[in-house]
Amino acid sequence: MPALHKRLFLAVALPEPVRTTLVALAQPLPGVAWTPPAQLHLTLRFLGDVPTGQIESLATSLATVRVEPFLLPVESVGAFPPKRPPHVVWAGVGSGHPRLHQLRQRVDDALLAAGLDLDVRTFHPHVTLARCAENAAAAVGHWLHAHREFAAPPFRVDAFALCASELRPEGATHTVQRRFPLTK
Ligand code: 2AM
Repeated sequence: MPALHKRLFLAVALPEPVRTTLVALAQPLPGVAWTPPAQLHLTLRFLGDVPTGQIESLATSLATVRVEPFLLPVESVGAFPPKRPPHVVWAGVGSGHPRLHQLRQRVDDALLAAGLDLDVRTFHPHVTLARCAENAAAAVGHWLHAHREFAAPPFRVDAFALCASELRPEGATHTVQRRFPLTK
């Protein structure tokens, strides 16, 4: 039977050179599960379960988003939650990237126009590099310190994507459902 819902999110894909730079940060650490290279991405909006019958109108609305392509750095590393044992290790995008926030805003406008409910939590743009178990805190603390100067060259964001996440016992699988090129 076809699925009634899909677990969806909107993301900016990372080009191969950026992913290679991020993959090079991964080293075996106790209690740390590094994100598979193909899954490294920046989430713009997590949608959760969306009825499959709603996806077409959602995509039509998202296709109206107009934002010029822009350059985005991937820089700095950190952990969530801050100042407590880490659950997630991330790479950031520096501060004050108005175009990324503009893209998120326009995407949200398109989602609201399509009738979706959105949560109002603050947007913390990041690339999830790893998920951590309880015993990871000390090693992650050292790793964060060692990589505190991390910066990858900026890349050109020229599209965003509607992606599906399928949860499986061996981990989530992400597949691009639609790609939306950025245009003026
Ligand atoms: P993460 O990178 O911080 O883990 C697919 O699961 C994407 O959606 C991931 O990038 C994940 O963010 C994000 N995501 C998953 N569940 C979420 C939730 N409940 N709230 C916000 N974002 C979520």
